[in-house]
Amino acid sequence: MTERIAILDFGGQYNRLIARRVREAGVYSELLPHDADIERIKGTCLSGIILTGGPDSVYAENAKVCDNRIFDIDVPVLGICYGMQYIAKVFGGSTEPSDIKEYGRTALRFIPHPLFENVKKNTVLMSHNDRVTKTPKGFSVIASTDNCPVAAFADDERKLYGLQFHAEVTHSDEGALVIENFLKNICKLKCTWRTENILTEMIEAVKAKVGNGRVLGALSGGVDSSVAAALVHKAIGDRLTCIFVDHGLLRLNEAEEVIGFYRDKLGLNIKAVDARERFLTKLSGVTEPEEKRKIIGEQFIRVFEEQAKLLGGADYLLQGTIYSDVIESGAGAGHTIKSHHNVGGLPEDIGFKGLIEPLRDLFKDEVRHLGESLGIPHELVWRQPFPGPGLAIRVIGDITAEKLDILRKSDFILRDEIKKAGLGDKVWQYFTVFTGIRSVGVMGDVRTYDYTIGVRAVTSTDAMTVDWARLPYELLQAVSERIIAEVPHVNRVVYDITSKPPGTIEWE
Ligand code: XMP
Repeated sequence: MTERIAILDFGGQYNRLIARRVREAGVYSELLPHDADIERIKGTCLSGIILTGGPDSVYAENAKVCDNRIFDIDVPVLGICYGMQYIAKVFGGSTEPSDIKEYGRTALRFIPHPLFENVKKNTVLMSHNDRVTKTPKGFSVIASTDNCPVAAFADDERKLYGLQFHAEVTHSDEGALVIENFLKNICKLKCTWRTENILTEMIEAVKAKVGNGRVLGALSGGVDSSVAAALVHKAIGDRLTCIFVDHGLLRLNEAEEVIGFYRDKLGLNIKAVDARERFLTKLSGVTEPEEKRKIIGEQFIRVFEEQAKLLGGADYLLQGTIYSDVIESGAGAGHTIKSHHNVGGLPEDIGFKGLIEPLRDLFKDEVRHLGESLGIPHELVWRQPFPGPGLAIRVIGDITAEKLDILRKSDFILRDEIKKAGLGDKVWQYFTVFTGIRSVGVMGDVRTYDYTIGVRAVTSTDAMTVDWARLPYELLQAVSERIIAEVPHVNRVVYDITSKPPGTIEWE
């Protein structure tokens, strides 16, 4: 790797997106804690540093700081929001609370500068309480808004830059271009990095961690665990054993399809475990979503431990955790939204030396690109995501075999119709939900009092934010008619038109 950007994390909610934008622009980037050791920051081939946003005021008592020797390393530094205010403070400028807090999209006025090369649209996202009121000596103001006279500053001599607006979010029209300009015009980078480039390093990292040990792989049939397994298989071959647990919460025919696929197409050493009875017993009568997730997470681990013993021991447990699982489970700066079963639901006494989570820093689409460069067939890599807790979080309320059966049949119909309509690649995720609601209907002149199935289909690029999919009415009609005609005890079908936020993709 020849070009690298270090991003110092001051705790803002969009920080991960900065890393993503930099990588999309073709430069490998790493998000490091704000107080990372200076030697770690310098690392190898450091080409520039970005200081992120954060919730504090730079003058707050416990305001986050970094090692200011970063300004002595001979690389450009870009501060975004808090990062900009931090630069202002360090170099003798000042920051004060704004009279009017600025949250939302606003028009940016800017002067010609390499950071703004080719920028035509000027709407940016502002989200801040404080603002720079005095620029430090040597800096000039290069952009402003009505409420923020210093919306961007630059010291071209020392190569220090600040943006008050959030260039990393898509709500800033050409924010990604501003970041790209920083990389190309200021840091003078070639920007040729692609996700595939980290493959060799990831494989080496797995080899180094595992040594001569054995790894037990947790396969769910989803993209993440498949890519994780293929990667580890490349690193340690058959010292990876994969376990596929049928927890009774899978989609129609899924267990057979997935196992066949792993064995025949990926050549993995895989063992199928039938744990249907065990999971359904543990989940019996449980209605609270977080409780369901914790039970499933714990049972997964228990099954793995038992399997590891049967196989004569394993040192590490492989999981396909990806970055959105990590932040949404509260491990990052954000609040806990849901305990994704492979993060928050993990019991502390896991009985393995440790976890192998090679995809922990990657976004879904990065995982997919990695999967393709590992030679995993297109249809598996672009398979829609399926949550670890499976259908348990799509049956609202307590789970029974009858409800699961209804859900499976309706879900199969939806998938079939989406496939026939050729929309499988265009919709991020699509599934049905057993809502638990019963309502009155009329079928064949007879009153019915039966279940309501919810249809959910969303578009997204990373599952962090999603839009409900504008599926054609004809498709929705076919789905509704088929579900009611073919699935016993369903007399109503509704379409979920909630985006994320405020909703989440899954109902639980
Ligand atoms: P939400 O519902 O949080 O889902 O908007 C975001 C993405 O994550 C999937 N999901 C999970 N995946 N374990 C997983 O492996 C989980 O516990 C879990 N919960 C949600 C969900 O299907 C969507 O793709």
